[in-house]
Amino acid sequence: MMSSAPHHRPRRPYLHRAASDLPYFSADGESYLAQTTLRELSKSRPLRVLSEEDFAHWQTYGYVVVREAIPAEAARRLLDFTWEFQGLDPDRPDSWHEDRPFRSELDQQLHVYGFVEAYHHQLLWDSRQAQRVYDAFVDVWDCEELWVTQDRLNLNPPNVKNRDRALIEPTDRGFDIELHWDIDTTLGVPPQRVQGIIALNDTRPETGGFQCNPELFRQFEEWKVSQPAGRDPLRPAVDRSEFPVVRPELHPGDLLIWNGLLAHGVARNTSKDEVRAVQYLSMMPALEEHEKLRRSRVDSWRHLRTPRWNRTLVGDPVLHESKRYPTATLSELGSRLLGLTSWQETDTDAAADAQSGEPSCAVSV
Ligand SMILES: [Fe+2]
Repeated sequence: MMSSAPHHRPRRPYLHRAASDLPYFSADGESYLAQTTLRELSKSRPLRVLSEEDFAHWQTYGYVVVREAIPAEAARRLLDFTWEFQGLDPDRPDSWHEDRPFRSELDQQLHVYGFVEAYHHQLLWDSRQAQRVYDAFVDVWDCEELWVTQDRLNLNPPNVKNRDRALIEPTDRGFDIELHWDIDTTLGVPPQRVQGIIALNDTRPETGGFQCNPELFRQFEEWKVSQPAGRDPLRPAVDRSEFPVVRPELHPGDLLIWNGLLAHGVARNTSKDEVRAVQYLSMMPALEEHEKLRRSRVDSWRHLRTPRWNRTLVGDPVLHESKRYPTATLSELGSRLLGLTSWQETDTDAAADAQSGEPSCAVSV
């Protein structure tokens, strides 16, 4: 395709400054440059949800679990919704592996991994605007001006038949569902990235789920210098007896937050007739001055559009969620976490925005 620019130069990513006192910069609202890494950050604000021990654990091992960040009952409702959305019957395991046409190889992989293409149901937004969830992320970033990710659900039935991981061609390098980093760990200054899940049911050894390598996180700086040149930036090659992989125990409503520098993955579901279910949810410093991104986030919420921040988000192939239910109602906090209301606006503005779905005029000044 012809470019309209006569002298085409590759565009350099522009670093926006987040709307926070602490200097955080990002081009995309996913990974951030900061003066101090999250693992070395000294708190300037009192902890809200994490205990001192939790915070020390987060900084030492790269993850922390917040018990019942949303009520267990809310997690159970989300689990019901996850079944319903896919038209699957929790009581009929034989229905979990019915064949459907795949739009692409990616579509098939997402099916194997159990991703559920719902982003904007009220129940998803209720988790995002839960005070305890928000407070936990304020604790790790040491900043109140945050945006929430518009992310999906996962319901992983036993990995057999058309959900067998053997259907996905194995690779020698790069992303590995079993264990990987979310960022390029060979960079001199790796960006700060935070990811999270809320458990919708109890973890069990057989159902697999989130696993990670906390000891590798703890010793990362020393480990790194002993590695050969050209090592894999995303897939750690480690002796698991020296750096054990652990699987934290989670219960419905528990929030697990991890640092992008923590090697992690999803263990396969080897059970006979049980599932693993989570909501993916994270928060990062609000990139309000990135107007294009802000607008696309608001449009995505309002019109239930499949978010565009990641190329693996594909939308439901059978009946898109925009045809199923209305726009979710936001609280004042939800309105700010979306980017509809600026963190600089007053509570009254936030209340009006949340009510009308339109930002008040102050935002355009
Ligand atoms: Fe990951």
